[in-house]
Amino acid sequence: MAMNVERFIRDAIEDIRRQVKGRAIIGLSGGVDSSVCAILAHRAIGDRLVPVYVDSGLMRQFESDRIEQLFKDIGLVRVNAQDRFLEALRGVVDPEEKRKVVGETFIRVFEEEARKIGGECLIQGTIYPDRIESEGGIKSHHNVGGLPSSMDFKVLIEPLADLYKDEVREVARALGLPLEISERMPYPGPGLAVRVVGEVTAEKLEVVRKANFIMEEEVAKFAPWQAFAAILGKATGVKGDNRVYGWVVALRAVSSRDAMTADVLELPWEALRRISSRITAEIPSVVRVVYDLTPKPPGTIEFE
Ligand code: XMP
Repeated sequence: MAMNVERFIRDAIEDIRRQVKGRAIIGLSGGVDSSVCAILAHRAIGDRLVPVYVDSGLMRQFESDRIEQLFKDIGLVRVNAQDRFLEALRGVVDPEEKRKVVGETFIRVFEEEARKIGGECLIQGTIYPDRIESEGGIKSHHNVGGLPSSMDFKVLIEPLADLYKDEVREVARALGLPLEISERMPYPGPGLAVRVVGEVTAEKLEVVRKANFIMEEEVAKFAPWQAFAAILGKATGVKGDNRVYGWVVALRAVSSRDAMTADVLELPWEALRRISSRITAEIPSVVRVVYDLTPKPPGTIEFE
């Protein structure tokens, strides 16, 4: 059933306007869901909306600066909490534990900001599949649950709660959001923390962030559902005349319809070879680059 986009936008704005009395706050990650919500809410209540962007240090290369720039017109508040996340993640190796730690740290930072800003209303970009997946208990997605129950907002508004991802993208286009937002690749809430196998450290984050940037840049033209780099651990290699013990980076590119299942993208050999050379040349501490050939199932899309 086709959605009437214009009508959805009109109703959503009216609804937000009716429900929000004073100020409202929204966690804006720059993903298509929260971005659409923020724009709808800004149209509804203008400056009474305070969009908050938490820089966890787990975002992609240049991503935080870009989001700050894209949303400065609607009054984005950026909170730099990189050290705090790193500290909280120290010694944590279990993937689900990582999600919990990132989620909890996010909530704590967000709560502090919310208290400073004031306001009784929280707006969230939860979409229909988020609710289903969380109920299914496959993974604890940190952008669902947690926030409202552990915070004292009087009103919770989820304007996209009945929409599928492709419908959200349609709304994003209709709202005039740039392609980099409306067509943005899904990116996990815990960010790079689930692309570092094992303990998250500043060094590993730097390596995986750079490798990921190269991967995304090189495969954009193949329109993957998701494409990224992860860091697996260390192995032996040769650089110059020396044997060195360096990082192993894994590349992953998949096609999918809904992320419940996924196929490995058959990237041209040429492209893979180019990415591998770039990564080992541009990130000296990387000695190996491997391509993940596992569909989902039995693999998951992320490494953790
Ligand atoms: P998996 O790895 O479970 O991923 O095959 C399926 C989709 O969900 C994303 N993903 C997450 N998103 N919080 C999120 O917000 C998470 O903890 C999380 N884990 C995975 C993943 O990128 C893919 O799109």
